[in-house]
Amino acid sequence: MKDDQSITVLKIGGSVITDKGKDEGTARTGEIRRIAEEIAGYDSRLVIVHGAGSFGHPQAKRYDINGKFDPRGSIITHLSVKRLNSLIVAALNEAGVNAIGVHPMNCVLSEDTRIRNMFLEQISTMIDSSFVPVLHGDVVMDRELGTSVLSGDQIVPYLAYRLKAERIGIGSAEDGVLDGKGRTIERITPANFKEIKRFIGGSASTDVTGGMLGKVLELLNLSESSNINSYIFNAGHPGNVSGFLSGRNIGTAISKEEY
Ligand SMILES: Nc1ncnc2c1ncn2[C@@H]1O[C@H](COP(=O)(O)OP(=O)(O)O)[C@@H](O)[C@H]1O
Ligand SMILES: [Mg+2]
Repeated sequence: MKDDQSITVLKIGGSVITDKGKDEGTARTGEIRRIAEEIAGYDSRLVIVHGAGSFGHPQAKRYDINGKFDPRGSIITHLSVKRLNSLIVAALNEAGVNAIGVHPMNCVLSEDTRIRNMFLEQISTMIDSSFVPVLHGDVVMDRELGTSVLSGDQIVPYLAYRLKAERIGIGSAEDGVLDGKGRTIERITPANFKEIKRFIGGSASTDVTGGMLGKVLELLNLSESSNINSYIFNAGHPGNVSGFLSGRNIGTAISKEEY
């Protein structure tokens, strides 16, 4: 059972809150409002991380900031994902959530694309004071590369581990991790990953951070060093975000072992 002190980390995929098939910077405002309202019904300790969708991936690709150092391209991409963050933070506040945008560019230092350091005290004080920090996929300073692209999918397990979160929910655009016949795989563990891996690929749309396989690898990695259970589910279905937050385990579970 969840106790009131437990922390949940919720990721909302860029594939849900933006139109990744359309032009750069196309937000799905109706979906953002609906999800904000579902989150507003939940009053426990929560951190939100959202993806960059069409506010980040096409820009990162255009300036090739995953492949080379380009200060201008990095700034253009960062400013764009910050615009998406402010739309989401505004919708959450309108729905009654005391949400505060936290930009990874200002609190993370990476090394060769992996987070080395993140200023967490401010984030945990926000949670203790009943605010909801809202982080996002971003461009961050990188000790080796100058800057690098930091996926929301990497931020989620990093935060969950250090904040001792109890549950992780990854809301994306599919019902979970799907097998070769389109059925939702119930659970992925380090033990069965080898057989399942062949079904999992990158993203069908522009996504520079690894699509579904990127998520699963990050969460499996976390499952080896913690007992946190993660669920990948469809945030595009009304009721799934609120259902997950109220304790329902939906979509594909990723955990250390079978329970
Ligand atoms: N086995 C799989 N099950 C579900 N989705 C998969 C699978 N393999 C590849 N994908 C792709 O990964 C996408 C999800 O990753 P991504 O586009 O990065 O989502 P997000 O925007 O939520 O980060 C799916 O929409 C799908 O195109
Ligand atoms: Mg993605």
